[in-house]
Amino acid sequence: MPPFEPRVVSGMRPTGPLHLGHYFGALQNWLSLAAAGQHRCSFFSADWHALTTGYRDTANLAAYRQDMVADWLAVGLDPAKVTLFSQAAITEHAELATLFGMITPVPWLERVPSYKEIRQELADRDLSTIGFLGYPLLQTADIAIYLGTHVPVGEDQLAHLELSREVIRRFNSYYAEILPEPAGLVTKVRRLPGLDGRKMSKSYNNAIFLTESAEDVKKKVMPAPTDPARVKRTDPGDPDKCNIFAYHKLFATADEEAEIAQGCRTAGIGCVDCKRRLLGKIEAFQAPIRDRKAEIMRQGTVQQVLTQGNAHARSEAQRTMQQVREAMAL
Ligand code: TRP
Ligand code: SF4
Repeated sequence: MPPFEPRVVSGMRPTGPLHLGHYFGALQNWLSLAAAGQHRCSFFSADWHALTTGYRDTANLAAYRQDMVADWLAVGLDPAKVTLFSQAAITEHAELATLFGMITPVPWLERVPSYKEIRQELADRDLSTIGFLGYPLLQTADIAIYLGTHVPVGEDQLAHLELSREVIRRFNSYYAEILPEPAGLVTKVRRLPGLDGRKMSKSYNNAIFLTESAEDVKKKVMPAPTDPARVKRTDPGDPDKCNIFAYHKLFATADEEAEIAQGCRTAGIGCVDCKRRLLGKIEAFQAPIRDRKAEIMRQGTVQQVLTQGNAHARSEAQRTMQQVREAMAL
């Protein structure tokens, strides 16, 4: 096996405005990988992956992609240092996914835990499609086509990566050892709960969007449930039973975190004050991102960034596909 240059590849589905969960679960990690400079990084809008569940109504997809990439730029991803592109613009991904499909037994895909889970979760949609079953295979192509060696993923995505490794191993053993087996870079942050404790989701109205207004954030935070033991202001609480505290942890220093926990346990701080304090932290975090995004939208930078990123990604993808076709004697 040739030594492969360290290479990070990751994607995000353009399914709606990005929220704090996207930032603390993925983007923060992307930023530090880019800053560390140990790997070249490619980050893309996983447009076709958005179609695996949202195939029926595609009207918003392109706008979501533009908005998502604007958010990426606003949080500080630098297109001069990392490649930002759109999966749908690089049709070679589909070619590689098709070829991987030839060597992948269907039971491998049916065994991926999220396959059953998400079908149950989204029981109102018909997900008995080839596209949804093939989700991890397309993802494998996304990674392999850029010779990805490392993939930042949440814990829930590790099974996908395991499948990628198996498929790539099979490809290498059948044809030629030209594709690296990617390793996972698991994010430290566990999944951030929604303000109501349920999974963060647009449809539950329990997510704080990255660039929504302070006023709207307040409308969501103030009525959010806290530790139910704190009925009266004088009732002590347990911060570990409160989502507001989970959010404080994202922004607080160790000292501040200890102070809030102590205040909660001794009823030294009331929930309303605790929430106000959190709102201040969220606003301090969001304000510069909101400003940068407004500037990006004003200048219309996104399309230009994608055009350049797509061209760069395409030439890399074409190079890999030439090797793949050759290895398979096509
Ligand atoms: N499955 C990822 C998600 O929705 C998105 C994705 C698509 C991806 N292709 C990828 C992530 C390749 C990493 C590498 O979270
Ligand atoms: Fe939650 Fe803060 Fe109230 Fe404690 S004081 S229950 S951490 S909102």
